[in-house]
Amino acid sequence: MELSTINYSKFINTVNSRRRPMITRELTKQVYNATGPVISLAEGMPNAQTFPFDSINFSLKDGSSFSIEGEELDMALQYLPTQGHPKLIKCLKDFHCRIHRPPVWHRSDLIITNGSQEGISRVIEMCIEEGDSVIVQNPLYSGTAIILNPYKPELIPIDQDEFGIKPTMLRRVLKQRKKLSMTNKNIKMPKLMYLNPTGANPTGTVMTLERKQAVYKIACEYNILILEDEAYQFLHFMEHIPPSFQSMDTEGRVLRFDSLSKIVSSGLRIGWVSGPKELIHAIELQMQAGCLHPSSLSQTLAYKLLNHWGYDGFMARMESIQDYYRVRRDITIAAMERHLTGLCYWSVPDAGMFVWIEVLGLTDVYDMLMTFGIKKGIVFVPGHAFMADSDQACNFIRASFSKVDPEKIDSAMASLAQLIREEQERLRLKLENCT
Ligand SMILES: Cc1ncc(COP(=O)(O)O)c(C=O)c1O
Repeated sequence: MELSTINYSKFINTVNSRRRPMITRELTKQVYNATGPVISLAEGMPNAQTFPFDSINFSLKDGSSFSIEGEELDMALQYLPTQGHPKLIKCLKDFHCRIHRPPVWHRSDLIITNGSQEGISRVIEMCIEEGDSVIVQNPLYSGTAIILNPYKPELIPIDQDEFGIKPTMLRRVLKQRKKLSMTNKNIKMPKLMYLNPTGANPTGTVMTLERKQAVYKIACEYNILILEDEAYQFLHFMEHIPPSFQSMDTEGRVLRFDSLSKIVSSGLRIGWVSGPKELIHAIELQMQAGCLHPSSLSQTLAYKLLNHWGYDGFMARMESIQDYYRVRRDITIAAMERHLTGLCYWSVPDAGMFVWIEVLGLTDVYDMLMTFGIKKGIVFVPGHAFMADSDQACNFIRASFSKVDPEKIDSAMASLAQLIREEQERLRLKLENCT
């Protein structure tokens, strides 16, 4: 299917299809984009002369520094067009094209959001109606589940292994559904597929190129939009990661979510969504109503930093971040091998911040972690948080190696081993009492 044949209005729900541009926001965009002098009496903006700041200086850990002052500071403290700071958008588009070389970039656009979480939530809330079906990878990032759940969607979980979601399962499920939907009007075909291909939260899996190609082909056959959440794209431990969905998107059916959270600062709240112009525009209308735009100061700081580093400096920085987290991952895996061998199963994550641990010999870990673990002073996330049905028993645990002191990882894993042994013993006694 060619890009021009995709009818994007099919993906936008009733409420959001009623949205119209806000005239004042559109005028702000015109004023910012004007190439000649403009005298504007249009905008309801405060006068920058009343702002209390004169200059803001930033010192970096590498000894360099930059400041924001004059007109640049006025702009950093003022309202911006909803799409974002024009210079930041230009810089991100440049980086984006160099990294992904998207085949239909000329028909794509990019919008800045309050972290990628806002982007994911805006898109889901823009697209789905109550009761819609949505394809999700299983296990699923809990931040996506909390957006979806109030819509009472029918989640179609597609299992992952160490190569990402399984295209054979995806095809089988869609084929069956299609057949059923011919005779049963209550069976809806999914419009959206949410994927977290690099360093999936919680499994740390990196989806292979072959899997991506197979999944993309299926999405084209069934006219499904792919939501490519790449919060951990730069946080990988491989020579190279496989090309993105967006880099193979010849039809314009990928909306991609990026973020500075894991690589610069999570508190800046800078993320961006890129994809087909029509859909980016629809997100812009939603944001005009929802927040006007993400923080101007954060956007200016992000732009200044990326501009200060330049593309090569940014990529070099990403490599040093990868080295930093690789060391932590290796320390964590070594501690797990020492303490959890025989008690648990895990695969070594190729990206992200997490190890996904299957506890052997137990069917459920909720009470063990939430009651006994917390009492012992160790905190892990029970796998329930990432399951389509969080009420079901689950024997998986998510361990994060990003923040904890490396010296404490060994004792945390030793405590986990003890916790598991105690739980196994409790279970054994319970069974003994029943017989
Ligand atoms: C998979 C995934 N996507 C998105 C996010 C949201 O990140 P942010 O909104 O900080 O960009 C997170 C945060 O942990 C995440 O793990």
